Amino acid sequence: MRYLAVVTAAAFLLLLEGNCLAQTRLNATEIEAKIEVLLGQMTLEEKLGQLHQLSGLANGSYNPDLLELARKGLLGSTLTVRGARMANELHNATLESRLKIPILMAFDVIHGYRTLFPIPLGETASWDLKAVERASSIAAAEAASAGIHWTFAPMLDVARDPRWGRVMEGSGEDVYLGSEMAKARVRGFQGSDYGQKDKILACAKHFVGYGAAEGGRDYNTVDMSERRLRETYLPPFKAAIDAGVDSFMTAFNELNGMPATANKFLLREILRGEWQFDGLVVSDWNSVEELINHGLAADKSEAARLSLNGGTDMEMNSATYRENGAKLVESGKVTIETINSAVRNVLRIKYRLGLFEQPPFVSEQHEKDTLLKPEFLQAAREIAGKSLVLLKNENETLPIDINKIKQLAVIGSLADDKPNTLDWWPGDARAADSITILQGLRDYVSAANLTSSVAVTFSKGCESVCDSDKDFAAAVIAAGAADFVVVVVGEIRSVSGEAASLSSIDLSGRQLDLVKEIAQTGKPYVVVLKNGRPLTINWLAENAPAILVAWHAGTMVGLRWRMFSSEPSTPVETPHEFPTEPRTNSPQLRLQKHRTTI
Ligand SMILES: *[C@@H]1O[C@H](CO)[C@@H](O)[C@H](O)[C@H]1NC(C)=O
Ligand SMILES: *[C@@H]1O[C@H](CO)[C@@H](O)[C@H](O)[C@H]1NC(C)=O
Ligand SMILES: *[C@@H]1O[C@H](CO)[C@@H](O)[C@H](O)[C@H]1NC(C)=O
Ligand SMILES: *[C@@H]1O[C@H](CO)[C@@H](O)[C@H](O)[C@H]1NC(C)=O
Ligand SMILES: *[C@@H]1O[C@H](CO)[C@@H](O)[C@H](O)[C@H]1NC(C)=O
Repeated sequence: MRYLAVVTAAAFLLLLEGNCLAQTRLNATEIEAKIEVLLGQMTLEEKLGQLHQLSGLANGSYNPDLLELARKGLLGSTLTVRGARMANELHNATLESRLKIPILMAFDVIHGYRTLFPIPLGETASWDLKAVERASSIAAAEAASAGIHWTFAPMLDVARDPRWGRVMEGSGEDVYLGSEMAKARVRGFQGSDYGQKDKILACAKHFVGYGAAEGGRDYNTVDMSERRLRETYLPPFKAAIDAGVDSFMTAFNELNGMPATANKFLLREILRGEWQFDGLVVSDWNSVEELINHGLAADKSEAARLSLNGGTDMEMNSATYRENGAKLVESGKVTIETINSAVRNVLRIKYRLGLFEQPPFVSEQHEKDTLLKPEFLQAAREIAGKSLVLLKNENETLPIDINKIKQLAVIGSLADDKPNTLDWWPGDARAADSITILQGLRDYVSAANLTSSVAVTFSKGCESVCDSDKDFAAAVIAAGAADFVVVVVGEIRSVSGEAASLSSIDLSGRQLDLVKEIAQTGKPYVVVLKNGRPLTINWLAENAPAILVAWHAGTMVGLRWRMFSSEPSTPVETPHEFPTEPRTNSPQLRLQKHRTTI
């Protein structure tokens, strides 16, 4: 049996190399029939295994216990395990299991896998749906080559409090723009069929209301009217469904007293009932077990009961389903039909992904050829450029006329900080691949064929966490000697993102003092903001001649500045036409009693 499996695996890898993989897709009726046959063969333990998602190590390796579970056929899904070799080894282990049900491999591919694009909030600032779709489709191609089937994106949480660290991960405050971006990202990740080799399953998250956490404090209580829910928070999710998204993740928060992970009103009434969703619902990390922290469940068994009955199919990380599922079924607290229905949702996705058609091995060579393709880097460069926002440009400070300056001073550690070219959700991106702002400016100037040379000097002013003014003097000297100054300030990668809420969104540390010192030199300057969230920049808005928001913009942040008048302009594409007719897609206000019964 094992010999056969190995031979099959080898033959399959050969096929992949030859790139002549013809997939015959099952239709919906055939899929449902196959699910029933498989379900009929599964033990309860195997069913509960399908409902469990476990994490690999941060570097993408699996740990030995995952391999053991895969061999026993008890591992439904992984997250974070990635790379063709790791993925193949785990799939190989499932071939030793009784029913050989393939593992569904997920990863947080938020705005790029290896080629990192601007954070979603930055991409959204481009208003360019085609560009955003393309970024997601490149992320999908890279991730799929590394064995990933499923990403936990797009994040569709409308967010109106920039103190909340996760504003970086979504499309900001606007319902309509957020809904359009939702569709663009789903189309990019999934294409018309996410079973294609270069596509992955998208996940609409976090369902729902997470962006409305009180005070912008992550995981905090959410309390809103049903009208607010339906008019502001649900539409991006409905838009994602209309674009074909086939998985949902529950939010960490409670909504009006009922945690989303156990919320029948959201999961059973709206998602499955009103929207007729037949895909997969996964919890967020530990959010099943956290029903205890919410005060809803007394223990892990109750947490499992409440979220299984609530409508959460798959449990991410915590193990309450696996540990308590059998007893809950025995005692009648959860019916076998509830378990079966959750398992069906998992298997349906696996069939739609085409994972059963052959063992889902991926080619290491194809992975190597796919990651960081020149055309992907070029796209990242273009999209980083489209995401820039010129907030202020008094007296036409920009663009810089490179022929009129002899010395350009770049000030601020963030201009030359490779690790901080990444952000909270860098996928599998490596800092070493990034072009920093300083590097980008130097490359530009040296490639510009100038009649006389321009010197680019750099002075950090302070560290990226700017907590001391001891190096200000050197920065002031560098600025004083230059004809033009680029001051780069903003946020390090860890202060915007999950569990990174702030009470103050001013420039942190001594950064504003640094800008003021540079302003004192009287030299023309631009403030470039590298940020993950909107910042309060009143002094800059009033005093700086030019402000350019560059966001945490990924691998190619340094290569798209449009700061120079001599820079060849990129062809202007036809901008996306946003419909001007009255919106017809706003959901009807249907006041229903919010059910908090369990
Ligand atoms: C699905 O395929 C089967 C053949 O395997 C065919 O008989 C059936 O009509 C198809 N159903 C649909 C809905 O296309
Ligand atoms: C990943 O990390 C683990 C534990 O730190 C280590 O044992 C393993 O060698 C690493 N794998 C790779 C591919 O670097
Ligand atoms: C699969 O497992 C077999 C035997 O355990 C091993 O010889 C083979 O190298 C493995 N293949 C992969 C792709 O891991
Ligand atoms: C600079 O000159 C080289 C050689 O003449 C040319 O290939 C290149 O395109 C020029 N670069 C720019 C930015 O004009
Ligand atoms: C812009 O030019 C006007 C008129 O010369 C001047 O008063 C003003 O200070 C300039 N603004 C900045 C930010 O340099």
